[in-house]
Amino acid sequence: MENPIEKSLTELVISRIKAENPRSQEILVALVRHLHGFIRDVEPTEAEWRTAIDFLTRTGQTCDDKRQEFILFSDVLGVSMLVDAINHRAQSDSTATTVTGPFHALARFYESGDTIARGKEAERGEPTVVSGSVLDSNGQPLKNATLDVWQSDDIGYYDVQDVNQPEMNLRGVFKTNEAGEFWFRTIKPAAYPIPTDGPVGELLRASGRHAMRPAHIHFWIKAPGYKDLITHLFVAGDKYLDSDAVFGVKDSLILDFEKKANAADARKWNVSTPFYHVHFDFKLESK
Ligand SMILES: [Fe+2]
Repeated sequence: MENPIEKSLTELVISRIKAENPRSQEILVALVRHLHGFIRDVEPTEAEWRTAIDFLTRTGQTCDDKRQEFILFSDVLGVSMLVDAINHRAQSDSTATTVTGPFHALARFYESGDTIARGKEAERGEPTVVSGSVLDSNGQPLKNATLDVWQSDDIGYYDVQDVNQPEMNLRGVFKTNEAGEFWFRTIKPAAYPIPTDGPVGELLRASGRHAMRPAHIHFWIKAPGYKDLITHLFVAGDKYLDSDAVFGVKDSLILDFEKKANAADARKWNVSTPFYHVHFDFKLESK
């Protein structure tokens, strides 16, 4: 038999919410309504409720200044990409967006053409040139736009996951020139598993899901008067493009990393042969 509290509790909790800010009111009321709905659907045992509390507690405890387990949690549930989709509904000519992910860090500025690969990664990885432009939605170049770039190494680790990598390896910030162009050198990124040694890893295993993300380079592009563009460039041919653990792949962001062996090309870009070259023009949406 239904306990009378089951019927009345949701409305009672909602009746106590008297937020000053109307948006806070809307969010808090919806939170209680949906959370109570979820509990009514699932009817957890008290042991299951404790498991959930323990999961959330450990998710928080796993976060520090280098690791963001809550973003990972949001990513693997598709919440990050749903927020992204809701916030970028308008069909425009601007470049498609995708998740920020948990590995962004504040990197230093580099000069155009510099390499962001250092240490063993620079010796071992496959040299790669990334070039392109930052444009407005009409195709006009944007000078002095900043491109904040970060990526995994050739075996799929970010600097923050790997004590053997130099700090801030494979990340850097570049500026576009007068013609809106940029270029930099790096190594070809590899597919990688998102961290599976914490609560989110347990969640994936319990769900029968793999943890892999297809190889990509992250970009966070800013220009005054334009909306920030947070996106990736994915390496065409990667076997995980159809099953990204965080649902972040969009077709327009999959690019050929063209293999080149021509010595004149290599001299032009200041790399050794063979090397990979990927070129992309980013389009920003005005504010
Ligand atoms: Fe990534």
